[in-house]
Amino acid sequence: MTTGNSVVESAEFRRFFPITGKFIYFNHAGTGPLSVPAQRAVERCLSIYSSQAEFDTERYFSIVGEARATVARFIGAKPEEIAFTHNTSEGIYIALCNLPLRENDTILVMDEVFPAVRYVVDNNLPHIKKKYVSFAKQDPIAVLETNLDRNVKVVVVDYVQFLSGETIDLRSFSAFTSEHGLYLVVDGIQGIGALKYDVTDNSVDFLACGCGKWLFGPSGAGFLYVNSRNFDKLRRQHTGWLGAGWTGFEDVTKNPPLYDDARKYEMGTRNILGIQALTANIDILLQYGMQRVEARILKLKEDLRRHFEVDGFEILTPRSGKQSGILSVSPGASVEVLSQGLRRNNIVVSLRNRYLRFSPHFYNSEDEIKQIVDVVGKYRVLK
Ligand SMILES: Cc1ncc(COP(=O)(O)O)c(C=O)c1O
Repeated sequence: MTTGNSVVESAEFRRFFPITGKFIYFNHAGTGPLSVPAQRAVERCLSIYSSQAEFDTERYFSIVGEARATVARFIGAKPEEIAFTHNTSEGIYIALCNLPLRENDTILVMDEVFPAVRYVVDNNLPHIKKKYVSFAKQDPIAVLETNLDRNVKVVVVDYVQFLSGETIDLRSFSAFTSEHGLYLVVDGIQGIGALKYDVTDNSVDFLACGCGKWLFGPSGAGFLYVNSRNFDKLRRQHTGWLGAGWTGFEDVTKNPPLYDDARKYEMGTRNILGIQALTANIDILLQYGMQRVEARILKLKEDLRRHFEVDGFEILTPRSGKQSGILSVSPGASVEVLSQGLRRNNIVVSLRNRYLRFSPHFYNSEDEIKQIVDVVGKYRVLK
């Protein structure tokens, strides 16, 4: 990586993503394609499982410790602020069940959240009131100013809205929640891995993230960031034996105490394959640099947007405000024909609520955008 030219350098990273050999893959908001280093990491684990059934204990603890340190470094956290989970929902669940809430306290939830948050909120907190309010196309702080009352204790939002791509500027938003004594719980899955994110830039209390999208998968692993300022206030729900400080398993009559940090929420046996893959994927992003990953994604998205604007598409994703890697557009009635046309040409995007959602990553290329534009031109006239 010597040229200093981000287009050339990102092209060099394409070799880590074999999917580029067959598809023009613009669907990272759907499912991230596994990278070669992650695949190798998983294969190494599998070979241990098949040849010796389990990891040597020391090796196991060192893998988990290194992985935790990598995730922490990736988002500017301390290792003990990271709990490994299996998906985003689990992280949201742990956050909400462990807050020191009392009967009739209220949780204010962004109405546009992906169902993952809604199911957790609606089905696991029987004594807590829920208030859903729309954030769409509004200043998020103004939404809070309008909707807060003295019972609201927690705010839950998606960092990046899964369809419109609207993105909350967490620095100013969390400064506001923090000043007002509110806990802020964030579903980060549509932002982390695409946007540079550092916990020390903001005041978020919990950030839950699955690894199956912008972090290149595979699904089934995730993490929860817990701000250390909350450690001594949190409950001990969703805790279990691997939330304790074991150093070996030869003698399980002596039970170590639960950690008093985020690690206590790792309830039982971990998805070590997923955790290994996650570490390898994060290493790729750190190698390229998150600032440059973000800049490249936003540039590719902007290139695409310009083409769709010229073509007269309806563009759901607002131009103003903080941007994400998501661009959702609609050609109107011909959306399904176009969707099928793209697929036939090995261009992978998502069709969601009658919008085509494009979500490029840093290794995608300008040439791929040209090919997308050509295919769009071809199928647009077939209305
Ligand atoms: C904003 C958002 N949150 C969560 C999820 C998925 O949640 P989980 O990781 O719990 O399956 C998705 C997409 O699948 C999403 O777009």
